[in-house]
Amino acid sequence: MRIDRKRLERSMDDLGRIGETPRGGLTRLALTDDDRRGRDWMVAHMREAGLRVTVDQMGNIFGERAGAEALPPVLMGSHVDSVPTGGKYDGQLGVLCGLETIRALNDHRIRTRRPVTLVIFTNEEGARFQPAMIASGVMAGKIALEDAYNTRDADGIRLADELERIGYLGSEPCVARPFRAYLELHIEQGPILEEEGLSVGVVEGIVAISWSRLTIHGVQDHAGPTPMRIRHDALVAAAQVVTGVRRIAHEIGGDLVTTVGRLTVSPNIVNAIPGKVALSIDMRDPKNETLDRALPLVDRVVRDACEREGVRYELEHYWRVPFTPFAPDVVGAVERAAKAGGVRYRRILSGAGHDAQYMAAIGPAGMIFVPSRGGRSHCEEEFTPMDDIENGANTLFLVALELAEQA
Ligand code: GLV
Ligand code: MN
Ligand code: MN
Repeated sequence: MRIDRKRLERSMDDLGRIGETPRGGLTRLALTDDDRRGRDWMVAHMREAGLRVTVDQMGNIFGERAGAEALPPVLMGSHVDSVPTGGKYDGQLGVLCGLETIRALNDHRIRTRRPVTLVIFTNEEGARFQPAMIASGVMAGKIALEDAYNTRDADGIRLADELERIGYLGSEPCVARPFRAYLELHIEQGPILEEEGLSVGVVEGIVAISWSRLTIHGVQDHAGPTPMRIRHDALVAAAQVVTGVRRIAHEIGGDLVTTVGRLTVSPNIVNAIPGKVALSIDMRDPKNETLDRALPLVDRVVRDACEREGVRYELEHYWRVPFTPFAPDVVGAVERAAKAGGVRYRRILSGAGHDAQYMAAIGPAGMIFVPSRGGRSHCEEEFTPMDDIENGANTLFLVALELAEQA
């Protein structure tokens, strides 16, 4: 039994047109009109596949395929939001392989013992509303619903208002419910599978993540008449923070990665000394203790940089997710499915965050990776060969089927 590769490819093309960029990537930020169009496309096809569709208070979409018995379901899911000028595989591929699994169960007229439910999570990326994985975070009880609702984007627009505006403020409580397993297929977003010529990664867990925000208050002044000796330049302090944050990764070494990805400069004109800079700091490592060591170093880098420039600052370490190992029985089942499908695979760790990370806090979870060409992701160049996608989707189908038949 296999999934239908042609049908999956058609769906990837169709959904991939919603929010497509001129260079063939995707900009489908959470809770925008394009996100709504993507959701509507999914809901229509979920209904067509016979799923019972519900929406919860965080806009998470569930499509249930009934089982023979009223047992906790097997969940499969991912997200349809993207980063700006992102790719067509991050998130979208997981929900479409989930949909294809449902369609394949229908083709083969399989009545599973447990329900099989497709889930689409809201705002996984954290590109528009921070933090990332906010809706699975609410479901897992790690983020308060009210806090999530009150999160604002860079223009000050509230998450709950956008949910309502696009018609996805549902009524089902966004709470943890029992499930047999949560399965997420995703692109690797790193180079390992491609380098080793493998189709599938059996994901054993996800690294620990911390996000911080820093605002530096300098003194805005004229770029001409203001002598160098009396300047308090927020951007000069920020520049030292950027290089200092990278130095932390080199100092601690190992697997630690550190990134300043967002930087906004005010007033951001040619002839004024920057009065204010806001920036983000993202750090990840497989070991929680490494982040425990790195965070005080961030404090020191920021303090020293701002002292040198004579500027004020606010630094907030506002989001932390611990290293998350996946459930050994789910990882084992994914591995069996890869083997049964004759797929070349290896076990692997995820360097990116996924909703599976929060789902693992409330039930057994696991993931299937497929390769990313050149290891590239969060960019328009994202690409995975269709042969690998087919192998990944078949693995998802087989593991979902095995777990859904379990008592
Ligand atoms: C999500 O894409 C993340 O890992 O930040
Ligand atoms: Mn993703
Ligand atoms: Mn992503």
